[in-house]
Amino acid sequence: MSKSNRVYIFDTTLRDGEQVPGCQLKTDEKIKVAKALEALGVDIIEAGFPISSPGDFQSVIEISKAVSNPVICALSRANKKDIEVAAESLKFAKRKRIHTGIGASDYHIKHKFRSTREDILQRGVEAVKFARNFVDDVEFYAEDAGRADLEFLARLLEGAIAAGATVVNIPDTTGYCLPEEYGAKIKYLVDHVPNIDQAIISVHCHNDLGMATANSISGIIQGARQIECTINGVGERAGNTSLEEVVMIMKTHHDLALETNIQTQQLNSTSGLVSRLMRMPVQPNKAIVGRNAFAHSSGIHQDGVLKSRENYEIMDPQDVGVASSSIVLTARSGRAALKHRLELLGHKYEGEALDKVYQEFLVMADEKKEIRDEDLLILAGDTSLVDHQVELDYLQVETSTLKMPNASIQVKYQGELRKGFAVGNGPIDAAINALHTIVDQRIELKEILIQTLTSTSDEVGKVHVQVMQGERVYYGFGAHSDIVRASINAYIDALNKVPVVVEA
Ligand code: KIV
Ligand code: ZN
Repeated sequence: MSKSNRVYIFDTTLRDGEQVPGCQLKTDEKIKVAKALEALGVDIIEAGFPISSPGDFQSVIEISKAVSNPVICALSRANKKDIEVAAESLKFAKRKRIHTGIGASDYHIKHKFRSTREDILQRGVEAVKFARNFVDDVEFYAEDAGRADLEFLARLLEGAIAAGATVVNIPDTTGYCLPEEYGAKIKYLVDHVPNIDQAIISVHCHNDLGMATANSISGIIQGARQIECTINGVGERAGNTSLEEVVMIMKTHHDLALETNIQTQQLNSTSGLVSRLMRMPVQPNKAIVGRNAFAHSSGIHQDGVLKSRENYEIMDPQDVGVASSSIVLTARSGRAALKHRLELLGHKYEGEALDKVYQEFLVMADEKKEIRDEDLLILAGDTSLVDHQVELDYLQVETSTLKMPNASIQVKYQGELRKGFAVGNGPIDAAINALHTIVDQRIELKEILIQTLTSTSDEVGKVHVQVMQGERVYYGFGAHSDIVRASINAYIDALNKVPVVVEA
């Protein structure tokens, strides 16, 4: 087995990741993701499971045509029909791989295949041999390897490698293993599969117990050299290993001396693209790509970061494509953060003056959850920017089964009323489109997360919105028993953080 420092990144966002209910992508959307993955530098794109549906088959064809550098991989079960269809779907791929395999744990052998270890071994070996008739690069997966008998797993992999497998995948399909246990499994295979040096070991971990990233890294430390992962960790149930996490662990831990081909500055934008297309928001505290991943809100941390970023940050946000870390002003912020922010807004405070404005700030911060620049300007007695605030005057939304939803909106800006009207795919879309007709067209909706907290119909809905102007992202929040109102409130909250939003 290769002991090189290079770790191959096998992205399965478009196959394992796309199995999330409600997140299926159309072929053109998959092509956008595949191109982004190519730009990101992934080594292998698992583009689909072609036998599963005509749509999946067509997607593998189109992705194969659209990208050139990564290997395109198609999944199959261990049977001839699956493998033939996978091979056919790869006909336009410049570099191609068939990923075939079979269940390896006694749970799968007895209760899924109603078979025996010997029969499974033979079927796995035959599948690899058959796949090698079509492609030179065949990956073999031993499904549920996480719970499989180690001695049998070693024999199965030996057979698959002898039959021509170039990569052997050790999935923790149910996300059961502990990091030490999974690492020990990889080490056992390194030590006990006689022909293991003829194949690359791949780790494929699910996140059911929140250990997918830890397990993958543990496997890599023990000698695996390929990680199967998805952007934002998407995948059914609790998801798959998150690509951005494993890549940044290897980049940050120089002691591991491991390398990937990933252009890490693209991680944030790729995460945003996948989240938007899959309509699957990224949790704010998600490592690396969450909205709060580089946001500091406690006074001690803010003071530390302002003195030297490394005091509280182990990664440079620019390395993952985030322009800078942010200091969020709340009632827990200290004088240093307030002073710094006021200075950026052109107001210098020292000594007693700073103490005084800080006390006023604390009173304001107790009332509001987050203090915006406009609030600070009010504290500083500077109202020049405050006039740019957008204020909702009225919103009227019409929905019917006969025509598209439409919305009329009126907002107050610089003391003047402006009206907008638009239709949309739904009432929220119509309302936001109507608002868009009267605000700066360069502002783009990046993400909208709608939460209803209980199952009763009269509960308050909460909406989180992110808008983008140029490279900068602004966040807004709204809550209301009417979810359309909550959405517009959130959108206006975000707009009011953009320096000047309404075109004159
Ligand atoms: O989790 C799993 O076992 C899989 C295989 C099909 C590779 O996704
Ligand atoms: Zn999987």
